[in-house]
Amino acid sequence: MRSPIPDYLAEALRSVEADQSGATADYIPELANADPDRLAVAFCTEDGRRYSQGDCDASFSIQSISKPFVYALALADRGFDEVLDKVGVEPSGDAFNEMSLEPITGRPLNPMINAGSITAHTLAGPRGAAPHDRFDRIVDGLSAFAGRRLEMDEAVFESEIRTAYRNRALANMLRANDIIDEDPLVAVTGYTRQCSLAVTVDDLALMAATLANRGVNPVTGAPVVPPAVVRQTLSVMATCGMYDAAGDWMTRVGIPAKSGVAGGLIGALPGQAGIATFSPRLDRHGNSVRGVELFRRFTSDMGMHLM
Ligand code: DON
Repeated sequence: MRSPIPDYLAEALRSVEADQSGATADYIPELANADPDRLAVAFCTEDGRRYSQGDCDASFSIQSISKPFVYALALADRGFDEVLDKVGVEPSGDAFNEMSLEPITGRPLNPMINAGSITAHTLAGPRGAAPHDRFDRIVDGLSAFAGRRLEMDEAVFESEIRTAYRNRALANMLRANDIIDEDPLVAVTGYTRQCSLAVTVDDLALMAATLANRGVNPVTGAPVVPPAVVRQTLSVMATCGMYDAAGDWMTRVGIPAKSGVAGGLIGALPGQAGIATFSPRLDRHGNSVRGVELFRRFTSDMGMHLM
């Protein structure tokens, strides 16, 4: 019998199509010029069945959705103590690009905001690795989550790094507080490259499904990160992944999630599935408007809420 899932997903896309509220991110010129009408959704189950509808071939930059995966790599490479010494796990309640450093330690509050993710970027790979080796480790790691080789979108990178004044300020503060121990511009450059990796909704659904499947890619069978790392990563996604909308998200949708300013959004339902949506117009928190609507609908239709 034909699966009803593709029809359900197509109908879900139709139900949000008319909503044109929100706006594409304008602080990264290349994203401001993106076609705002594209819309796509993908599901990948924990046993590797994949479904998608809409503009599934559209590729877009991963942006902040890279953050949980790079955090997971840092935990796997350096261990919990070293990473927790430099990045906390408390929701900031502030926008993703605020400083949000703890008063006494100077640590960024969590690894989902920019300050925390610039820090996590510097902790991926072996200690003392050269920046290009560290970047290779990140691309290899994120590619293992996605089950295929990911490539950078150079135009997005160039466009963002030219105007990354805010992230440079964050990195300078991190350096001043001895949270990162390298040239702040090197850290911001690597972090911005990480955010410029190009993905599709199918890639993101499989990446999320790998988290939902305790760190084993359900399509390739590759173990990517250990279960303890997945638990930590999903926990910070649940509490901090949607920034200053994390509480609203957790009460209304109820699964660990992460958004990106290019319009991607992922959710991981442990033991069940990874879900990804793509729609570039964002709300005031920097989360995809139609993506959030789709996830709300999935929760009410399928009872995804973990509580
Ligand atoms: O650092 C930045 O501002 C971007 N590269 C990523 C921000 C982002 O995706 C925020 N999420 N919604």
